[in-house]
Amino acid sequence: MKEKVEKLKKEILEKVAKAKDLKIISDLRVEYLGKKGPINELTSHMKELSTDEKKDFGKLLNDIKQAVTEALDNKKNKFEEEELNKKLASESIDITLPATKIPTGSPNILEKVIEDFEDVFMSMGYDIVDGPELEEDRFNFELLGLPKGHPARDAQDTFYVKDDELLLRSHTSPVQARVMLAKKGIEPVRIICPGKAYRRDDDDATHSHQFTQIEGLIVDKNIKLSDLKGTVTVICKRLFGNDTVTRFRPSYYQFTEPSVEMDISCFNCKGKGCNICKNSGWITIGGAGVVHYDVLRGCGYDPEKWSGFAFGFGAERCAMLKYGINDIRTFYNTDLRETKNFDRREVE
Ligand code: DAH
Repeated sequence: MKEKVEKLKKEILEKVAKAKDLKIISDLRVEYLGKKGPINELTSHMKELSTDEKKDFGKLLNDIKQAVTEALDNKKNKFEEEELNKKLASESIDITLPATKIPTGSPNILEKVIEDFEDVFMSMGYDIVDGPELEEDRFNFELLGLPKGHPARDAQDTFYVKDDELLLRSHTSPVQARVMLAKKGIEPVRIICPGKAYRRDDDDATHSHQFTQIEGLIVDKNIKLSDLKGTVTVICKRLFGNDTVTRFRPSYYQFTEPSVEMDISCFNCKGKGCNICKNSGWITIGGAGVVHYDVLRGCGYDPEKWSGFAFGFGAERCAMLKYGINDIRTFYNTDLRETKNFDRREVE
C-alpha cells in the first residue's frame, strides 16, 4: 500500500512539474484532490485497516495530500507571478521621460499693475467704482468745465457714437461727476476708478486709441492740495519703492484748480538720469489737482463747505516704466511670448 501511495505521489508531482499553465494546474487539482480523485479513493480503504495500520496510513495520506497541494500552489503562484510580470512589462511607463508641457496662461501685466493700485488704495479706505465706457457728453466734458466748443476738447478728441451726445469716454474723469451726483452733495466721496479710455490717436509705440487710466476722487471737509501731495507720495512709495520721491509741477486742467503734473523720481537710476527717464531723473505718471469749485457745484456739492482732490494715473505708462516695456501695443497684441516674459510669478 505504501508503494502504491508513493507511486501515485511521484506520478502526480511529475504531472504538476510538467504543467504549462494555470488551467492545467486547476484541472490537476480537481483530478487528484477532488472528491472522486485517487487520494480520496485511498481514504476509503482506511476502514479495512487495523488501528496501528490506520495511524501509519493516515500519516501517509496526509503527506501525499500536503505534498500535492504544496506543489500545485507553488506552480499556481509561479504562473500568476509570470502573468503579472508580463502584464506590467507591456504596460510599463518610463518615468524618466520628460513630461509633456502643458502651456499655462499668465496674468496680463497691465492687470497686475491695476491690481497693485487697487490694493494700495483699498488699504487707504478708497472704494473701487466702475463707470460706463460709452459716455454722455455731459459727464465726459460739460460737468468737468469743458462746454461745447471749448478748445481743450480738441486734445481729447474721441469716437462719437450718436451725434455729439454719446461718445467713448476720452478719460475716466466723468466717473467723478457720476459719483458726486449719486452721493447727492451730502456724503463724502473716496473712490478710485480704473478703466478704459479712448482717443482718436494713431497707434504707435506710445499712443493707443484705447488705453487705461486710474481715476481718483476724494471729496470731504477741508481737503487741501497738501492732502493730495501726501496721499500720492505714500501711494507712489508703496507702488514704486520706499525711496521714491514725488514732484508736483504746476499744470492746467479745466476740472481742477490748482492743477499739477505728478512726477516720481526714476526708480531705475534713482534720479541720476538714464534712458528710462530720458536723463531727467523724473518720470511723469499722471495729472491731478484740487477739484474745481464749478465742478463741485455742478455735481451738487457746496464748494463753501466741501472740497476735494482728484487725480488720473496712466496705467500703461506706469506698467511700461515699472517693467521696462517700450511699446504700448505690447499690452494689446496678445503675443504669448511677450506675456510669458512678464509672467507675474517671475516678476514677484
Ligand atoms: N483726465 C485727465 C486726462 O485724461 C487726467 C486727470 C488730470 C485726471 C487731473 C484728474 C485730474 O482727475 O485731477 O488727461
